[in-house]
Amino acid sequence: MVEIVKVGIVGIGHGRFGNRNDATVQELAFEPFKQAIQDAKNLRREDIDALVVGSVPEYHMQRSLPGVVAEYVGMNPKSTWLTEAACASGSAAIRTAYMAVKSGMHDIVAVIGVQKMRELSTDEILALMGRVGDVQWESIFGTTFPGYYAFYASRHMHEFGTTMEQMAQIAVKNHHYGAMNPNSFFQKEVTVERILKSEEVAFPLKVFDCCANADGAACVIMTNEKLAKKLNDSPVWFEGMGSASAAMSLLRRPNLYEIPSAVEAGKQAYKLANVKPSDIQVAEVHDCFTIAEIMAYENLGFCDKGKGGKFIEDKQSYIGGKTPVNVDGGLKAKGHPVGATGVSMTVEIVKQLRGIAGKRQVPDAQIGLTHNVGGIGQYTFVNILRR
Ligand SMILES: CC(C)(COP(=O)(O)OP(=O)(O)OC[C@H]1O[C@@H](n2cnc3c(N)ncnc32)[C@H](O)[C@@H]1OP(=O)(O)O)[C@@H](O)C(=O)NCCC(=O)NCCS
Repeated sequence: MVEIVKVGIVGIGHGRFGNRNDATVQELAFEPFKQAIQDAKNLRREDIDALVVGSVPEYHMQRSLPGVVAEYVGMNPKSTWLTEAACASGSAAIRTAYMAVKSGMHDIVAVIGVQKMRELSTDEILALMGRVGDVQWESIFGTTFPGYYAFYASRHMHEFGTTMEQMAQIAVKNHHYGAMNPNSFFQKEVTVERILKSEEVAFPLKVFDCCANADGAACVIMTNEKLAKKLNDSPVWFEGMGSASAAMSLLRRPNLYEIPSAVEAGKQAYKLANVKPSDIQVAEVHDCFTIAEIMAYENLGFCDKGKGGKFIEDKQSYIGGKTPVNVDGGLKAKGHPVGATGVSMTVEIVKQLRGIAGKRQVPDAQIGLTHNVGGIGQYTFVNILRR
């Protein structure tokens, strides 16, 4: 067997995120899949030999999603499977596709991240998502995701003096860029004043500190270096990958201001890619709540521990700053269809590295990073990509 050295992305697709009651889950999946095949100029659907679907099953009436998606997008009788890692299910799908290509088991693998959430009520989703936290010791007593991240936010404020204004500035930035992204759920700018006046969800988090539940799908097509050059003039390569886990229960974490799986996954990815945090020119990080983006700056080494609030205050994560972050709007403005998010982040980094991100383009970006957190940090995937 020929050794596969590099794995790259040759096709990308991204549907509109938001209220998508115009589409079934398989129709949502088909939109970016079709775009991705067209994007990989010399690819025919029959050349793809496996399909990985990243999704969280409990949101859909339809169980065993890869079955219905593979049939609808015309992939039968090719191999297909599902990955689930809560909000990082899309990145888990990319990781398994990478392993499949790298091992030589499959040549060309399509990854579709897809989720349809808006058929459920907010209360139903809060209860369902709460069970991603420890059911025996936590969610049984009523913990919800906004509640969990409110613990992180309060502790960060207590330890480092982070302020609600600094958290609001994350939302201002992400809505600023989301307003330039036609696939974003929310395409309006917001102000710090508006955010601070929005309804409280779980102190200190307001509605505008939270990402919204959304429907949506995104797709990437991955292959080895030999085929990649034939299929696309500008493939983007995986240079570093990190994946780590952390204790299920917050009670068993060393502190409440850091996500240990993110720190560990970041270290692994930097080591494999042989780069430093300061080499990253554009990043997509998991801003499910504004405090999560502040913690991500610190956990990934974009700034020192405790300085994430200052990093946004100084606009270091805007285009033109030290490390532009979430310049597609992030989860905050795009919405967070949990299975699709990791794939959506990857699509954005590929666009940035190919130089096709339009008004949101980071000038001459060569190296980018995705950081996708599942649950309250039970899983984190960090990938580093290069043009
Ligand atoms: C914050 C939250 C509780 C709000 O629930 P909700 O009020 O029922 O949300 P809705 O979708 O009905 O939106 C209510 C209004 O606020 C707006 N809105 C909701 N979330 C918003 C957001 N994050 N940013 C901006 N506007 C938002 C909606 O557009 C809607 O406006 P409208 O009344 O003019 O139509 C819910 O979005 C939530 O739980 N978010 C977190 C999701 C999560 O935990 N994900 C996993 C993280 S890893």
